[in-house]
Amino acid sequence: MLEKTRQTVSFIQEKFNITPEVGIILGTGLGGLVNEIEIQHTIDYEEIPNFPVSTVEGHHGRLIFGKLGGKNIIAMQGRFHFYEGYPISEVTFPVRVMKYLGVKTLLVSNASGGVNPDFEIGDLMIIDDHINLIPNPLIGVHNNDFGARFPDMSEPYDKILIARAQDIVKKHHIKTQIGCYVATTGPTFETPKEYQYFRIIGGDTVGMSTTPEIIVARQMGIPCFAISIITDLGVPGKIVEVTHEEVQKVAAKAETKMTLIMRELISQL
Ligand code: HPA
Repeated sequence: MLEKTRQTVSFIQEKFNITPEVGIILGTGLGGLVNEIEIQHTIDYEEIPNFPVSTVEGHHGRLIFGKLGGKNIIAMQGRFHFYEGYPISEVTFPVRVMKYLGVKTLLVSNASGGVNPDFEIGDLMIIDDHINLIPNPLIGVHNNDFGARFPDMSEPYDKILIARAQDIVKKHHIKTQIGCYVATTGPTFETPKEYQYFRIIGGDTVGMSTTPEIIVARQMGIPCFAISIITDLGVPGKIVEVTHEEVQKVAAKAETKMTLIMRELISQL
């Protein structure tokens, strides 16, 4: 994995003169942030050695290099999910590449189903903890160059970044929740009892991404910030049929708020 990471990093560095300090995974709700990036270079995932190859037609992702909020950034437009069939170490490979390109902060977004009865559809939730129920991306041969064999997870999401984000949402009067994100493999949405179970074990929302990338970033010592858009509710009495289309529709409505938070947060780094 280290050799592969070095190979990919050399390839990118030989192609572009870049020194990104902020990594962004443009998950659901953050698509619009692309329009705010002063784009310097882009490269399709297909062209990057060792990057996972997308199996989904019309699902072409790319890396974007540029400036945002005065910072040099690298953004993933399109992420890899475990449910697509990639080995979990491949899902998180781009985060390893980011680290070796110089990234010092990782920002992530996603969509999730609220299981906290106080939540409403369209709410944003700053993630301050997670429960990872996707296979752990650190399972397998260990290389100390990446970090500890048994990484500490007492502060998966950076407290300073969370505090800054809370100041930003307060200033702009953006209703924002804070809580624990449960990550499950998907691709099925939850049964009513599964939603109930995720609430009982301590979750506020449930989704199908993010925790693998955060685990890998934390092993490598990168401070992380993640925010989720609540697109549906897994709360007794409020459960209705969920579709991917509905998730996308709700997320699109929250895009402006999500973009603003991330942009301001980056400018404060
Ligand atoms: N469950 C899992 N993942 C999700 C959901 C959900 O209800 N909503 C958006 N992503």
